[in-house]
Amino acid sequence: MAENTSKKPGASVPRHIAIILDGNGRWAKKRGLPRTAGHAAGAETFRKIALYCRDIGVDYLTVYAFSTENWKRSDDEVGAIMRLLNKYLHEAIDTMERDGMKMRIFGDVTGLSPELQALAHRTDEIADRIDGFQANICLNYGGRDEIVQAARRYARDLAEGRAEGELTEEKFGSYLYSAGVPDPDLLIRPGGEQRLSNFLLWQCAYAEFYFTDVLWPDFTPAELDKAIEVFRSRDRRYGGVK
Ligand code: FPP
Repeated sequence: MAENTSKKPGASVPRHIAIILDGNGRWAKKRGLPRTAGHAAGAETFRKIALYCRDIGVDYLTVYAFSTENWKRSDDEVGAIMRLLNKYLHEAIDTMERDGMKMRIFGDVTGLSPELQALAHRTDEIADRIDGFQANICLNYGGRDEIVQAARRYARDLAEGRAEGELTEEKFGSYLYSAGVPDPDLLIRPGGEQRLSNFLLWQCAYAEFYFTDVLWPDFTPAELDKAIEVFRSRDRRYGGVK
């Protein structure tokens, strides 16, 4: 196993890592398995990487699990992904407090089944009581949709007297699913594609991007260490000059 560079004393880790879970289908195809087997393997990888992030001192992990566009996939595939999410939410509800790790759902939960909505609600209630590492699962999520929904809610608050004063970036941010969560420092996309695919459009304004051909189910803590090493070598200037 590769040396765990992220645990070196004094070496900083990104506070917030965002990951686009990509390559599950190809991982399954390479093995002659159905795409759904790739998603099951991808969900296990998510579990491993989330625990690793917690252990090395990352505060937030946000993953893109199901986009507002993913409904276009076959009923079979969508059903399998929803069943996996159901299983992991149940598990999170049972273990979050014990593991000191909270989970949140980012996305339009009203588009999910009543059962998943109830699980997301229960997960939120428990997460409110926990202080510590936070894993956010983007589910029925689209970056543009998030911005439009936030604009609508702000306009409603303004019209109904719940919002006042000038609209600032900070105030607008409080209407997003990610309210209260710092912007991602590092965005990782496994699976070989190099695009954002409508993920965290607002929040990734200053994120460092890291792309790798490794398919998501094959992604390991050692791969995360590599991404963090590259992140450390970047010069973040936020539009300024050094
Ligand atoms: C993208 O790979 C992956 C998805 C659209 C689904 C990801 C969902 C999970 C891993 C299941 C549950 C998740 C959690 C966090 C518990 P792809 O199917 O587009 O892969 P391909 O590009 O190789 O076809």
